[in-house]
Amino acid sequence: MSLTPPPLSLYVHVPWCVRKCPYCDFNSHEGRGELPFAAYVDALLADLDQDLPLVWGRTVQTVFFGGGTPSLMPPEFIDRFLQGASARLRFAPGCEITLETNPGTAEHGRFEGYRAAGVNRLSFGIQSFDDGCLQRLGRIHDSREAEAAVTLAREAGFDNFNLDLMYALPGQDLAMAMHDLERAFALEPTHISHYQLTLEPNTVFAARPPVGIPDEDLGWDIQERCQAMLAGAGYAQYEVSAYARPGRQCAHNLNYWTYGDYLGIGAGAHGKITLGHDESILRRWKHKHPTRYLADAGTPAAIGGDEVVAPGRRPFEFMLNALRLVDGFALGLFEQRTGLPAAVIEPILAEATGRGWLQVEDGHVRLTELGRRFTNDVVALFLEG
Ligand SMILES: C[S@@+](CC[C@H](N)C(=O)[O-])C[C@H]1O[C@@H](n2cnc3c(N)ncnc32)[C@H](O)[C@@H]1O
Ligand code: SF4
Repeated sequence: MSLTPPPLSLYVHVPWCVRKCPYCDFNSHEGRGELPFAAYVDALLADLDQDLPLVWGRTVQTVFFGGGTPSLMPPEFIDRFLQGASARLRFAPGCEITLETNPGTAEHGRFEGYRAAGVNRLSFGIQSFDDGCLQRLGRIHDSREAEAAVTLAREAGFDNFNLDLMYALPGQDLAMAMHDLERAFALEPTHISHYQLTLEPNTVFAARPPVGIPDEDLGWDIQERCQAMLAGAGYAQYEVSAYARPGRQCAHNLNYWTYGDYLGIGAGAHGKITLGHDESILRRWKHKHPTRYLADAGTPAAIGGDEVVAPGRRPFEFMLNALRLVDGFALGLFEQRTGLPAAVIEPILAEATGRGWLQVEDGHVRLTELGRRFTNDVVALFLEG
């Protein structure tokens, strides 16, 4: 069984935000004063140059600017980066290019500039349309600004965009969570990401949990009612937190969830690349801190680490991603992506099926309702003994 390179994506990390949100554990830093965007684009391109030998001859299917707050970067820098990147790498026709946008950074002219640069999808960090909730989350925008940002983007020609919403927020009840979805539907996004607020270690919220976080029962109620509302409004769930109109799933994230390949460039970015010549899978990550990254990008010193994924670990990594998908995966995909025969996981599949966690039908694997409640335990079965 051979390991052939899967579709390739490009992830670009922008590590600054206007203000650090108290719940957020992403690699994002409060940007003070003028941010060094020109130097950062040089650093990104040098970083890309250094990674290019890992992907010679391959075509990029999707690009994602994530953060942090990529929309802090004025369009001319996104344009210069994309021009530089497309001179180095072949982009597939119709390549999905997404940019994460904080509504608090929207201003006239910006969205036109992003479109002209080649961005064809936006992902707005809305979180909630309730001003009290937004304040308690430490957001820099209110609901009016959020709606205005989406309207500006639409006027600039963006018809493909995601709204990120969080639920189980401090002070939120079921009616408020449902009202957030109604306000979201009114903006007609093609995609909605609906995340339950989690208290991540090393955040302000973990150290001092806010009062009024819904208990587990209310969290479940909100999730169930909102899932039904999303389905009723034509947003089909395809992953734990992702819902889309027909044909509008996020191709970039789908590539992650189907254990595809991605280059990760920018401060703290992670990449995963299948190396056809020696049939191995390499994980590579970059230094996290923007100042150090800016100084070292393009040199070995900017590489935080390189790690070859041992063949025995590939089933676990594959499951960690693919079992997030509501439709599961075909065993043939497992074989292609891991380079291992399905026979190596058959005893584990049988065990998980016996426990009522998985359903295997005609070579297609998916989590059952019960399995969805124990996803971590299911995935852990695939760890090497
Ligand atoms: C990297 S953030 C990027 C969006 C952009 N920086 C912003 O916040 O406007 C991606 C999304 O993850 C979600 N998120 C971040 N921290 C979270 C947490 N602790 N629990 C649940 N969702 C979270 C938010 O919905 C956020 O919009
Ligand atoms: S704006 Fe987004 S990335 Fe930045 S701190 Fe807030 S949630 Fe995190």
